[in-house]
Amino acid sequence: MLTAKQLRQKYLDFFKNKEHAIIPSASLVPENDPTTLFINSGMHPLVPYLMGEKHPLGKRLTDAQKCIRTGDINEVGDATHHTFFEMLGNWSLGDYFKKEAISWSWEFLTSSEWLGLDKKRLACSVFEGDADASFDDEAYNIWLKIGMPEKKIAKLPKKNNWWGPAGITGPCGPDSEMFYWVGDLDKVPCSFNDDNDLWVEIWNDVFMEFNKNEKGAYEKLTAQNVDTGMGMERVLAALNGFDDNYRTELFWPIIKKIEELSQIKYEERKKSFRIIADHIKASVFIIADGVNPSNTERGYILRRLIRRAIRQGHILNIKNNFTVEIAKIVQEIYSEIYPEVLQGRILFELQKEEEKFRKTLENGLREFEKYGKFNGKIAFDLYQTYGFPIELTKELAKEKDLIVNEDEFNEEFKKHQELSRTASAGMFKGGLSDTKEKTTELHTVAHLMLAGLRKVLGENVHQKGSNINGERIRFDFSHSEKMTDEQKKAVEVFVNEAIESKTEVMMAEMTPEEAKKYGAEGEFGHKYGDLVKVYSIGNYSKEICGGPHIKNTSEIKGKFRIQKEESSSSGVRRIKAVVE
Ligand code: SER
Repeated sequence: MLTAKQLRQKYLDFFKNKEHAIIPSASLVPENDPTTLFINSGMHPLVPYLMGEKHPLGKRLTDAQKCIRTGDINEVGDATHHTFFEMLGNWSLGDYFKKEAISWSWEFLTSSEWLGLDKKRLACSVFEGDADASFDDEAYNIWLKIGMPEKKIAKLPKKNNWWGPAGITGPCGPDSEMFYWVGDLDKVPCSFNDDNDLWVEIWNDVFMEFNKNEKGAYEKLTAQNVDTGMGMERVLAALNGFDDNYRTELFWPIIKKIEELSQIKYEERKKSFRIIADHIKASVFIIADGVNPSNTERGYILRRLIRRAIRQGHILNIKNNFTVEIAKIVQEIYSEIYPEVLQGRILFELQKEEEKFRKTLENGLREFEKYGKFNGKIAFDLYQTYGFPIELTKELAKEKDLIVNEDEFNEEFKKHQELSRTASAGMFKGGLSDTKEKTTELHTVAHLMLAGLRKVLGENVHQKGSNINGERIRFDFSHSEKMTDEQKKAVEVFVNEAIESKTEVMMAEMTPEEAKKYGAEGEFGHKYGDLVKVYSIGNYSKEICGGPHIKNTSEIKGKFRIQKEESSSSGVRRIKAVVE
């Protein structure tokens, strides 16, 4: 039996012996990539270095990286797909290339000192070539030389043997994947066949020598990099002879807990068990990295995960709040390697979200049962009144062979958004009640304050409305808890520093996509025109806005102070602030 801890450690030790620096896992929230919500692979946090920036620890790195793949959310429920998983990886930043990468992968997998896998059970694939890049004969020949039988080296197209970029643009390249036969040893086929589920992909060596640019074209990078990734859960299962990742120690204690809570056996309701285990685990890690449930972006994904798990709990007849009980097991499994999962916030947020959703779940489900036919309006009502994410409604509908038209739902959603916008625009005239000098000054201060709030409270904070006049700023923002005195102070310090720094306020027009990439704060789901104005105040703030603003923060006369911070509505706080 190989434990998760042993596998992780062996991997890191092996590459340490090959002069790789061991680096810690980065946060699940990307720092450098505004085009994606979560880190989805080991290479993702390393993109700047794969693009040529120097890494402080050198050209050879290795780690175990936390990943979230939300694209796989609907696959969760089978034996191998997860929204949260760990990826073991090693990188060459313009250092070694295909020969070393492949031979080291082979050595780690087969040497008796390391995993000692039976060579007979292994096969691989290489990129067959297309208009963007040619057949990877180099990788092919390396495999032949290592002793891989010709029939076990598949030549496959981009769909199979090309990886990246992690976001919309960035480093990518052809890859060579390794497969492990999980069936009986005496039944190992003599050739590799991509369609046979008994061949499980265990490792991917990517040869990153291209950058996919904004036009979708592949440019050659100056450096030849290597990015490899081994899916921890899957490899652990394969190596221990399980055909189900949930039987590994990274899941089994959670499954046992669900059995205890539901008094139902895993075998009877595997899919529900798996969804609960996967989603609560993912939620624990997402909250641990600073995200709270909300209705936008990361917070919405988190909310969907938690609510979907709760609904499955409901199906299993678990009556009481249970997400916290499951989360505690996740903490036990992971706290040694990822101590951030022990934060008290995690249980608190889960408990809060479960209480909130449970209250309306049954009513919502009852409501749902009434409908024999579906339209976007009903889906929207379920969302608005019962907090059913559209995806949940779609799932429920599918179980009953009903179809929900998502376009109709989006139409409803937009209509609703526009209505509330018009209402607030009418009331607040776009947030500014007049454009006198002081108001303009405070408008710029409001940008600084939002940036400060996001810095101190996290990026779940977005503007929900504002009303500014010559005397004060009234500002609503998404956040679910009362701010502490320290947090208020920290925001004040941030804003006052920006004022004192005498920074120029700059405006540039760009497309909404560019603004997003640039990291500007704004409502990206919303319909903007072709071009938006982005106001930036040095490194302090970047925000999409119609203006007007002052030209330099030195025009702000006085000190910024938060007078009051209070609840405005559910999940929304209101600040009154002044410059005096
Ligand atoms: N980036 C590649 C993957 O995720 C290898 O690390 O498979």
